[in-house]
Amino acid sequence: MAKLRLQKVLAAAGVDSRRNCEQLILEGAVRVNRKVVDELPAFVDPEKDLITVDGKTIRPAAKVYFLLNKPKGVICTSSDPQGRKKAIDLVHTKERIFCVGRLDAETTGIIILTNDSEMANKLAHPRYGLAKTYVVGIRGQIAGEQVEKLKKGIWLAEGKTGRASVKILKRGRAESRIEVTIRQGLNRQVRRMLAGVGLPVKTLTRTRIGRIEIRGLGVGKFRPLTKAEVAHLKKTTDKQN
Ligand code: URA
Repeated sequence: MAKLRLQKVLAAAGVDSRRNCEQLILEGAVRVNRKVVDELPAFVDPEKDLITVDGKTIRPAAKVYFLLNKPKGVICTSSDPQGRKKAIDLVHTKERIFCVGRLDAETTGIIILTNDSEMANKLAHPRYGLAKTYVVGIRGQIAGEQVEKLKKGIWLAEGKTGRASVKILKRGRAESRIEVTIRQGLNRQVRRMLAGVGLPVKTLTRTRIGRIEIRGLGVGKFRPLTKAEVAHLKKTTDKQN
C-alpha cells in the first residue's frame, strides 16, 4: 500500500478531525513503530506500521464500499455551506466515506461511496477508463448525424471528448431517450456533450459503472457492493500499476 499522511490515517481511524490529529502529532502523542513522530509531514503505511496515540494502538478502519442510487437535489461533496442534502448522509455507516467522482445535483443514478481513498483516487482518474453508462432523456428528436457526432467526440473547453457508445432507446417527436457510455469523467460531461450537438437534456441517470448496475436499487437506496463487484474495481485499478 502507498504511504499516507499520518494525520489522515488517524482521522480515518476515528481518532479526531484531521486538524486535531495534526495537533496530537505535534504534541508528541503519536508513535510510529514505537518512535515518537512529532513533525509534519509524516507518512505511514497503515497496514504495516504500528501506530499508537497516547499508548493506544490505532487499527486502520475496515474498507467499506457502497452503491447509492442518488436522488435529484442531492450533492456529492463532503460538506456544503448551503446545507443541501449530501449523498454521504443517505448511506448509513459509522465509517467516514466519500463519493468516488461526482454526479451533479440534477443527475440521478448510481455512485460509489467508500473510505478507500487509494482506490477512489484511481477510479476517478481517466487513466483507468472505467466505462460509465447514462440514460439521457432529451426534449425533442435526435438525428443520426447528432448520434455520430456524440460517438466521435465533442470539443469541450478541456479538449475533445473520447469516443462514446450511443444507443437509441426511444425516438419520439416530443421526447427521445438515448444511452451514452463514456470512459472519462469531466465535469457535467454528458450534459455538455449533448449541448454541443444542440440537444437539451431533460433527465440524466447513471445506470452502470463498469459491471456494476443500478438494477433493483430504488432511488435514495443504498447497498454494500458485493465481493465480486469490489474485486472487479480492484482488478480495474491494479491493471496498469
Ligand atoms: N455528466 C453530466 O453531465 N452530469 C453528471 O452528473 C455526470 C456526467
